[in-house]
Amino acid sequence: MADDLDKYVIEIEGLVNTVGPGIILHRDLNLKVRRDEVLSLVGGSGSGKTQLLRVILGLKRPKAGRAHVFGVSWDDPNVKKVRDARRRMGMLFQNGALYSALTVYDNIAFPLRERGGLAEEDIRAIVNTKLAQVELEPRHGKLLPANLSGGMVKRVSLARALALSPDLLILDEPTAGLDPDRSEGFVRLIKRLREDHRFAVVMVTHDLDTLFELTDRVAVLADQHIIACDTLAVVRAMDHKFVQNFFGGERGRRALEHS
Ligand SMILES: Nc1ncnc2c1ncn2[C@@H]1O[C@H](COP(=O)(O)OP(=O)(O)O)[C@@H](O)[C@H]1O
Ligand SMILES: [Mg+2]
Repeated sequence: MADDLDKYVIEIEGLVNTVGPGIILHRDLNLKVRRDEVLSLVGGSGSGKTQLLRVILGLKRPKAGRAHVFGVSWDDPNVKKVRDARRRMGMLFQNGALYSALTVYDNIAFPLRERGGLAEEDIRAIVNTKLAQVELEPRHGKLLPANLSGGMVKRVSLARALALSPDLLILDEPTAGLDPDRSEGFVRLIKRLREDHRFAVVMVTHDLDTLFELTDRVAVLADQHIIACDTLAVVRAMDHKFVQNFFGGERGRRALEHS
């Protein structure tokens, strides 16, 4: 078990997860995410990828099963243990989800202020470091989210997700809605950040270029559970309708040629 703790940042076993009035979304779902790996989570629209991320983040209580993040269950009565585990995760929500009334600076400072114990000058130094990490400048801190381009919203969201230097970064469709250049820029950024600070990534994506560039393993969510979690080569070879549609065809070939 101690070995496992060291090896996996997420361990989910026998998960049952419902939405609305008892509709079963996930059943007998198992998933282990290794420390330091980039795991891509793929699945059809509405298959429950975002809902699974919500369980991982502790925003959603599963109906049954075991879900541990950094060896801690979100319903562990030890509040400090839960809080410490939570702080080790950073999340980039679908569509950015910045606080629209707060400036870029205050958005990035938010998790730092919430954590407490930091003087404003420490916060300023960290915010400026994070801005630089996502290739923005201190002057961008004054802008409001409404005045940012799509690519900038993603980068500011990423800076906010990185504010507490997480060991696990969770990305929900990070390049959706970005043009190919901006998507490529985002992928480069994630790669570079991981060279400086090794963290695990769980990423939902439909973008094959992003997937081929970043992924160590792919988890496929279909038929209410993870039907495979393996290298791209193994997963692509699976005889499953979703997998063949997802990786097959012109789109898949094109992405493969570029990888
Ligand atoms: N709060 C909710 N109440 C009822 N159904 C929901 C709720 N949130 C999500 N769902 C349903 O759960 C399913 C999975 O949603 P989601 O995890 O967002 O899918 P995706 O794989 O596209 O990210 C969808 O069919 C969606 O309609
Ligand atoms: Mg989703």
